Amino acid sequence: MSPVEMNLEARFEAYVAEDKKIEPKDWMPDAYRKTLIRQISQHAHSEIVGMLPEGNWITRAPSLKRKAILLAKVQDEAGHGLYLYSAAETLGVTRDQMLDDLHTGKAKYSSIFNYPTISWADIGAVGWLVDGAAIMNQVPLCKCSYGPYARAMVRVCKEESFHQRQGFQIMLTMAQGTPEQKALAQDAFNRWWWPSLMMFGPSDADSPHSGQSMKWNIKRFSNDELRQRFVDMTVPQAELLGLTVPDPDLKWNEDRGHYDFGAIDWDEFFNVIKGNGPCNKERLAARVSAHERGAWVREAAKAHAAKQAERRAKSSTHAA
Ligand SMILES: [Fe+2]
Ligand SMILES: [Fe+2]
Repeated sequence: MSPVEMNLEARFEAYVAEDKKIEPKDWMPDAYRKTLIRQISQHAHSEIVGMLPEGNWITRAPSLKRKAILLAKVQDEAGHGLYLYSAAETLGVTRDQMLDDLHTGKAKYSSIFNYPTISWADIGAVGWLVDGAAIMNQVPLCKCSYGPYARAMVRVCKEESFHQRQGFQIMLTMAQGTPEQKALAQDAFNRWWWPSLMMFGPSDADSPHSGQSMKWNIKRFSNDELRQRFVDMTVPQAELLGLTVPDPDLKWNEDRGHYDFGAIDWDEFFNVIKGNGPCNKERLAARVSAHERGAWVREAAKAHAAKQAERRAKSSTHAA
């Protein structure tokens, strides 16, 4: 390593240690850049693939009000994808490359979106649990060391908290409805609980990138810590709903001051990650087809921008 590079690295490390932000034009280690590109693009992919299980219910939402709310939520997720792709682009990767990696199966997205949404209560459970787990994961990212990612997360988190509340509100309405509606709410809870716990990623011992990301202030808390917080936050909410957490081993541990919970089926998690979840193929096919069907919009936007630039150039020649 040359003396200049050593200085740059020392400056980078001092910045991270002092909790200052690293900006796109600052020098950064290659591995830091690569880690961020992987994490931010995966995050962006999760936002736009996450639109699919919920978009599935827009036409079937039970009232005009619910339809408007769900439509707004799904649009928010598209916006989250946009902020995050833009943040990743500041690291030198193109959007085309990222989308290509997603569409060819090279890039990953959150395994949770490979589960089906089979009843309206699933939309409640997704908002309550999936957006709830996302908030738990994402609030610490508002303080992450990479400036563009941290700033994108501030806005994302504000919107996620609305998503979580709308989901809880659907669950509350159904849990207080007819016995059939309550049964649908419980059934959705049963199916989404464990995949939501898996959203925090493997246990700390099996999480390959965690240690380094903590040192770089990309990650602030371990997967297990965040998962525990989520359980501690969600169990009282389930009690309020009058629903039963689908875990016979769940109980309050007075000594730890936390809930103990049962073992997670990591075989299922890795199987879904590998592409064998209930909806992996369907999600990817829907994404690729949406991208292909949107090609004319991208072309039209480019043609419009070129026409405007031409007009601006002409009028500035006239002015001169
Ligand atoms: Fe989101
Ligand atoms: Fe959300």
